[in-house]
Amino acid sequence: MPGSKLAIVGAGSVGTSLAYAALIRGSASNIALFDVNSGKAEAEVLDLAHGTQFAAGATSVTGGGDIGVTEGADVVVITAGAKQEPGQTRLDLAGTNVRILEQLMPKLLERAPDAVYVLVTNPCDVLTVAARQITGLPAGRIFSSGTVLDTSRLRWLLARHAGVSVASVHASMVGEHGDTEFPVWSGARIGPVPIREWTSGSGRTFTQEHLTDTAREVTQAAYKVIAGKGATNYAIGLSGARIVEALLRDENAVLPVSTVLDGQYGISGVALSLPSIVGRQGVLRVLDTPMDQDELAALQHSADTLRNTLSTLGL
Ligand code: 2OP
Repeated sequence: MPGSKLAIVGAGSVGTSLAYAALIRGSASNIALFDVNSGKAEAEVLDLAHGTQFAAGATSVTGGGDIGVTEGADVVVITAGAKQEPGQTRLDLAGTNVRILEQLMPKLLERAPDAVYVLVTNPCDVLTVAARQITGLPAGRIFSSGTVLDTSRLRWLLARHAGVSVASVHASMVGEHGDTEFPVWSGARIGPVPIREWTSGSGRTFTQEHLTDTAREVTQAAYKVIAGKGATNYAIGLSGARIVEALLRDENAVLPVSTVLDGQYGISGVALSLPSIVGRQGVLRVLDTPMDQDELAALQHSADTLRNTLSTLGL
């Protein structure tokens, strides 16, 4: 994207994977990486910049330990904060990471007053509410990656089972980016075929048992990766780069990002993921996604869980 600046806050495994994905995909013309650990940030910038010859576009990579590197950014993605350790839920990180945002957000807003802000740090739904309160930005300009990654995990599992391209699977994970998230099976399709009606020779491919197991596998996915390698980074990096593209290319793409709701489904003051239109100004609209009774109840359960965490934090 000519003339577009993406600032990434945090040069840990998620921030650098996002920068790497954005560099390879040509998501922005300038990528600026900021981390309070200046040595780490500078080394990561060098390592990325050394590969620019092989990137998709004419991308420049800059950055370091001075927050001034984020100056004038069009999009700021925040990945900084404590990360989930084996045995921890995302919600366990809330208090520490809200305090980090309290320090960080006012400084970022001074440097990039017109940017759209995307939170990737967990628990991203809770932090979206906190960041919105700290900055006073409109809900559409400060949102989180939410269940974009979980949706990608879901589509990958469904595509593999049906033997079709991931791009032909239309299904979304919604709610909390965490333990209470769930798939909207009632609207899930492969091409035009409702998921429950998809057949492969000998009958229905997706039994209720298979769908239940798939939903559980998606919810447990991060735990499994964290148990094996200590963190998730590549897929969230790609998800973040995809959101950045939807913003900078003014795509009006439908993505399940997490925005502070204002009465949708009777929920207010809680951020959770629902399919939403994402364009240059941020989240333009949260779609009124049809759901059956069980799904509506699951959405309320997700909202209640997040509301409880918010109230323990005084938010
Ligand atoms: C993930 O879902 C841990 O939130 C991170 O990969």
